Amino acid sequence: MSFAMGLIGCGVMGRRHVIGMKQLKAAGKLNFDLVAVCDIMPENLQKMGDHAEELLGSRPQQFADFDSMIKSVKLDGIIVTTSPEMHVDVALKAFDAGIHVMVEKPITLTVSEGVRLVDAGKKANRKLAVAENYRRDPINRLGKALVDSGAIGTPFLATQESSGGGEFVIITPWRHRKDRGGIVIDMGVHYTDILEFYLGPISTVVGMNAIIDKQRTDQQGKSHPVDAEDLSVGVMRFESGAIANWLLNIAGRGEGSFSRMIYGTGGSLAIPGDRTGKALRLVQRRDGKDVPVDDLLSLVPDFHLDDVTAALFKGDRLATYDMVWADIDANLLGIEQADFVDAVINNREPEVTGEQGLRSLALVFGLLESELLKRMITLDEVLEGNDAPYQADIERSLKA
Ligand SMILES: NC(=O)c1ccc[n+]([C@@H]2O[C@H](COP(=O)([O-])OP(=O)(O)OC[C@H]3O[C@@H](n4cnc5c(N)ncnc54)[C@H](O)[C@@H]3O)[C@@H](O)[C@H]2O)c1
Repeated sequence: MSFAMGLIGCGVMGRRHVIGMKQLKAAGKLNFDLVAVCDIMPENLQKMGDHAEELLGSRPQQFADFDSMIKSVKLDGIIVTTSPEMHVDVALKAFDAGIHVMVEKPITLTVSEGVRLVDAGKKANRKLAVAENYRRDPINRLGKALVDSGAIGTPFLATQESSGGGEFVIITPWRHRKDRGGIVIDMGVHYTDILEFYLGPISTVVGMNAIIDKQRTDQQGKSHPVDAEDLSVGVMRFESGAIANWLLNIAGRGEGSFSRMIYGTGGSLAIPGDRTGKALRLVQRRDGKDVPVDDLLSLVPDFHLDDVTAALFKGDRLATYDMVWADIDANLLGIEQADFVDAVINNREPEVTGEQGLRSLALVFGLLESELLKRMITLDEVLEGNDAPYQADIERSLKA
């Protein structure tokens, strides 16, 4: 029996997800049918119908609102690719209708919404997956296998640092509005996820943040107001005791930079930018000397990519790959879609559960809350939400 999928939100990411489906289909790994799409903007809806028909060979039914979609079509699962403030409403309605949900990151606009969504999924006995793509990159899979194998000894420090973006709008103006899911949240959740992917749960964070650009210019030269932070600097403590150094500078002028390093008692691992296919750089400390290691795969003889990843990236033991960005991106989205559907079919948890997506969101909010509270904050406190002035401000603005 085929799995009927719906897609809600036909903007930038909705269209990219359909390219992911095309890649899965071409690799013989598409385990569902896209039967319906929905968007409140007629133009985006129409474009999506054409896009899906062209790429997948059949036109999904089109709906201008989710209520009429669930009344008219029998759906097994949906992918929610609306802007973040709509994630919770759409997903809660889906659970009420008995539909499984994969929601784009960030799971929701606020932590309290995320807690509500995770609880609702459990009560409805439906799967909740969060579409987090960076960890699915084959290079991160190998990096994780190397760290787990002890290739750098016991990890004690991770750095996650990036700078760029200037004074420009990043993809859409809503990403610079605090009550729509500001850019530090939007990008930061990828990096909190990847830190926990590599080194396990984070328990405590402290941050300092700023709004550098109060206006940003889009590609047409139009100026847009900004009220969400575009600079976040912080420190995090893992449950293991290791520390992470965090820098997310989306106001970066001059030289752009990206650095993700893990240092351990036995060496260092430099991890390249996600979706680049570049090689990891491992240096091991041997007899007091630093020795670069070229043949990384020989250190992890049992390392294999899962079937879907191997089919899409054409190899099950990859240390690099050479592919255009759009194909890499689409492959990673295809992998998360196939995982979500397989989790439903086989009644197992998806790789990135609602709980994990919620942790990623709460950690970034922790950086923002800690500054207002003028102290370090634990992840548990952020999840409990008793003292969350930053998010209280968002909630006030949503009610106004
Ligand atoms: N994983 C990634 O690499 C990545 C990259 C970009 C975006 N995203 C995420 O994807 C989501 C969407 O981002 P985007 O860039 O596509 O935004 P977008 O603004 O381009 O598209 C959002 C679409 O949702 C529609 N929409 C809003 N409310 C709706 C509702 N109630 N019902 C139906 N449609 C509705 C809008 O009309 C719009 O077409 C966000 O959560 C974003 O963070 C993830």
